[in-house]
Amino acid sequence: MYITPTDIDEYCVSHSSSPSQIAKDLQEYTKKNVHGANMLIGEMEASVLRFLISLGDVRSVVEFGTYTGYSALTMAEALPADGKVITIDINKETTTLARTYWDKSPHGRKIHQILKPGIEAIKELTGKYDLVFIDADKNNYSNYLDWAVAHLSDNGMIVVDNTLWSGRVLNSDGEKQTESIIAHNIKAKNLEGHIKTLLPIRDGMFLIKKDRA
Ligand SMILES: C[S@@+](CC[C@H](N)C(=O)[O-])C[C@H]1O[C@@H](n2cnc3c(N)ncnc32)[C@H](O)[C@@H]1O
Repeated sequence: MYITPTDIDEYCVSHSSSPSQIAKDLQEYTKKNVHGANMLIGEMEASVLRFLISLGDVRSVVEFGTYTGYSALTMAEALPADGKVITIDINKETTTLARTYWDKSPHGRKIHQILKPGIEAIKELTGKYDLVFIDADKNNYSNYLDWAVAHLSDNGMIVVDNTLWSGRVLNSDGEKQTESIIAHNIKAKNLEGHIKTLLPIRDGMFLIKKDRA
């Protein structure tokens, strides 16, 4: 579910900076040909991510959930030339498709794929990162949040997608994914030493960063 009415969303997108034509083509191809295209972050959320990247001094991004590579490409486009997106997914088919589009873009070389479950992949990621975008398996959201908090650079930011879960966070349907997102949101809300805002953009974007006050 999109929280914002479609016409309002389209108006906002039409007045915001656009991703590249390659990213638009990738989005269109995914919508027409790939199962689960409703998982794409869409242009409004991509626009917000790009804006956040350009606001902070973001050079390194870790993404949980590559899918067909739309969000990774739009973020890579907003990074400086020495920037890097490490994106993690378990689906070989969709990540192979992603690479075919990234290879058409001058920003594709900034993107590094890890084809492993997120919980396994984080064992390899020992550095500090400027932006962590969580958009993979919902049942591990709290684990990904713990990892992100421990691996965030001082000015870094965590963005967690689908945190409104089509409104089901208000009245849980009892499903495991819903309960996992609710548990994540409570954990995020109670994080000490951090500033947080849960935005009603698309399916809910939870923004978290260290509080420097
Ligand atoms: C919502 S989609 C990501 C969409 C992508 N960020 C975009 O907007 O272009 C979620 C992805 O998480 C992946 N996924 C599911 N379980 C996973 C796991 N345990 N570890 C890593 N990725 C996983 C799925 O294969 C799927 O591609």
